[in-house]
Amino acid sequence: MTTQELVFSGVQPTGNLHLGNYLGAIVNFVKLQESHNCIYCVVDMHAITVWQDPADLTKATREVAAAFIAAGIDPREHIVFNQSQVSGHAELAWVFNCVARLGWLNRMTQFKEKAGKDRENASVGLYAYPNLMAADILVYRATHVPVGEDQKQHLELARDIAQKFNNDFSNEIRDNGFGAGQFFPQPEPLITGPATRVMSLRDGTKKMSKSDPSDYSRINLSDDADAIAQKIRKAKTDPEPLPGEEKGLESRPEADNLVGIYAALSGRSKADLLREFGGGQFSNFKANLVDLAVEKLGPVGAEMKRLTADPGYVDSVLIDGADRARVLADRTMNHVKDIVGFIRRR
Ligand code: AMP
Ligand code: TRP
Repeated sequence: MTTQELVFSGVQPTGNLHLGNYLGAIVNFVKLQESHNCIYCVVDMHAITVWQDPADLTKATREVAAAFIAAGIDPREHIVFNQSQVSGHAELAWVFNCVARLGWLNRMTQFKEKAGKDRENASVGLYAYPNLMAADILVYRATHVPVGEDQKQHLELARDIAQKFNNDFSNEIRDNGFGAGQFFPQPEPLITGPATRVMSLRDGTKKMSKSDPSDYSRINLSDDADAIAQKIRKAKTDPEPLPGEEKGLESRPEADNLVGIYAALSGRSKADLLREFGGGQFSNFKANLVDLAVEKLGPVGAEMKRLTADPGYVDSVLIDGADRARVLADRTMNHVKDIVGFIRRR
């Protein structure tokens, strides 16, 4: 087996791509292109684990693809596609449904959060969601997965699934020419960058999220300069001036979040920023942050708009990416079928 490094990550097309997605995930996707082969997937099958209006799903799928391209991902050099076009994801997910244990899934905090109190009414797909995510990664035998902090637990589950599959089928894996227990790699999470957890602009203790009912809680990648400015000006703060050093941000979640966003967008450290803004009021800091955010996000939003105005182009990128992804996924699935003992055409 080749042990070449391969990057895979996914983003759900569930509307309102925001600054958290951008700083926590997409800027890292862009960077990794320089050093790795990368596969970036719009995970439409994950999206339907909660109800999606079909027309909105189509639109949001094109929007995420457009955001990838607008942010600087090169879909010719790397692979950009939507999940449902490559059947290997669903096929491997079924095998993993039979490898993962109920007890493992019962520990998943995202399911508990998303299902809420009415768990009986959550879809079976929402429960099995982490198995599909493991399949996304492992159907390419990807080794590195850039994600935000909130996906850490799902990545640990993917590693457990890979290991159990390798153990359960170690004889067959060897018979198929791989080292015993050496079929799936242990995918490594890459939770890096200065903003792995961007918080809501309305409440510094809650993460910035697509599903927050208040649009003022997040900066959307599609927001224009006016919207960005208004949201930053209205962002919650506390009455104290900014502290002079990082220690002073402890137990001041809103201040910490805004300084963190500034640091991530500017590439400067929090300590450096506090040397400049410490002791001052938020109004001056926010005015500077508005300029910076508009400068960095404005062009991405404008390019997204230009791309989504041409759905034919975006679809052609997704179709071409899927054709290339399918070749890789099918190769893994043929091995998986042989290992598990499924008869197939040769
Ligand atoms: P999702 O929109 O849930 O598909 O998330 C896409 C990517 O963005 C994942 O890697 C998440 O971990 C990341 N992400 C989502 N929200 C945030 C946030 N508030 N801060 C940092 N990363 C985030
Ligand atoms: N669960 C991820 C999220 O909500 C999206 C996702 C699906 C993903 N499949 C993946 C991320 C595979 C990384 C790798 O953010």
